[in-house]
Amino acid sequence: MMASSTKSERSLRVILIGAGGHATRTLLPTLHHLPFELVAICDLDEARARQAARKWGCSAHTDLARALDAEKPEAVLLAAGPGAHPPLACRALEAGVHVWMEKPSSYRARDLDPVLERRGDRVVVVGYKKAFMPATDKAIELLSAEGGKALQSALAVYPIDVPEDGRRILEEGVFTNWLGNGCHPLSLLVAVAGEVEALTVRRSRHGGGMCLLEFAGGAVGALHLAAGAPSSQAVERYHFVADGRQVVIDNGSRVHFQRGIPFRYGQTVSFAPEGLDHGAIVWEPQNHLATLENRMEFTQGFYGELRYFYDCIVEGRPAVRGSLEFARHLTLLYEAALLSEGREIHIADLG
Ligand SMILES: NC(=O)c1ccc[n+]([C@@H]2O[C@H](COP(=O)([O-])OP(=O)(O)OC[C@H]3O[C@@H](n4cnc5c(N)ncnc54)[C@H](O)[C@@H]3O)[C@@H](O)[C@H]2O)c1
Repeated sequence: MMASSTKSERSLRVILIGAGGHATRTLLPTLHHLPFELVAICDLDEARARQAARKWGCSAHTDLARALDAEKPEAVLLAAGPGAHPPLACRALEAGVHVWMEKPSSYRARDLDPVLERRGDRVVVVGYKKAFMPATDKAIELLSAEGGKALQSALAVYPIDVPEDGRRILEEGVFTNWLGNGCHPLSLLVAVAGEVEALTVRRSRHGGGMCLLEFAGGAVGALHLAAGAPSSQAVERYHFVADGRQVVIDNGSRVHFQRGIPFRYGQTVSFAPEGLDHGAIVWEPQNHLATLENRMEFTQGFYGELRYFYDCIVEGRPAVRGSLEFARHLTLLYEAALLSEGREIHIADLG
C-alpha cells in the first residue's frame, strides 16, 4: 500500500509487525495520511498476516527475520505487545532498520536496555499517543510561551487502578490494565511536566485512589486513579497550573486556557469586563465537516506519533518525545506504582 500524504514527500518503506485488533482498527488506517509505503505485514498467525496483507495490498510474512531479508524496509512498526517488542526491536536494529513500537514498550524497564544498546544512530520511537496529541502540544506551548512561569502543580483524572499484589505482577510479568493503559495519563504528564523523581500510590479501600508525583522540575502532580468511572464516559481530564496561567485538557479534545480578568478583590463588579486580552481561550474541533483535525487518528495522537517518527528519520535527528529514554522512565513509574503500597518510591532507586 502506498500511503497518501498531502505533501510530496519521500516515502519510507515500512513493515508492520502484528496484525491484531489495534493495528487493523487504527494503525493501518492512520498510515493513509503519512508518507509510508507499507511493503509487508508480518504476524505469527499466518491467516491473520495474509488477510491483512490482501486488504492493504502488500506481502505477508510470519517471521520478522525473513521479512527483513526479503523486503529490505527502512523502518518497522511493531504492534505485537510488550513481551514481543524488545526482541523484535533488537532484531530490526541489528538489521539497521528504524523502529516505531506501540506502547507498552516492555514489561520491565530493564527489558529496554538491550534495545538501547543496539539503537546506535537509528530512530526509535514508542507510540505514547497522548504525548503527541494536538492538545498536549498546545498545553506545552501555552505553559512555556512568552517567558512562561515554572509549573507548580498538575492533575490528571483517568479511569484506571493500580492493582494490589504489585510485586508478584512484576515478577511474573502479568499483563494488567495498569500496564496497558496507565502509561497514557503518565505519558501526557511527563511530556508536559518532565521527569518524575518520586511517586507514592494511596489506594482507596474501594478501588482507585491517588498517585502522587514529584517532578524533578519542582512541580507536584496527582494522578487521580478514577477506577469506577466507566471508560465509556468522557472522564479524562488534565489541569496544569503555573503562576498566573491555567491550562485544562478535557476529554483529549478541548483545551481551555484561563488568563483571568483585571481584578480587584471587593471592587471588580463584572466577571466579563470589556476587552479581548483577558478571560479564557478555548480550542476544540468542529464536528460538522468531514476533515482531518476532528478524526480520532489526529485528536488522539496516532498521526502525531508516526509523523514525529518519520520526521526524525528524514531529518536525521534522534527522537526526544517517545524516545527509549522516555519509555524507560515511564516504565519505571509503572513499576514504582506497583511497589509503592502507600510508601514514597524514589525513581532513581529503581535503576
Ligand atoms: N495506543 C493505543 O491506544 C492502543 C490501543 C490498543 C492496543 N495498543 C497496543 O497495540 C499492541 C497490540 O495490541 P492488540 O490489541 O492489537 O493485540 P492483539 O493480540 O490483537 O494483536 C497482536 C498481534 O501481534 C502478533 N504477534 C505477537 N508476537 C509476534 C511476533 N513475535 N511476530 C509477529 N507477530 C506477533 C499476534 O499474533 C497478534 O496477531 C499492544 O502493544 C497494545 O498495548 C495500543
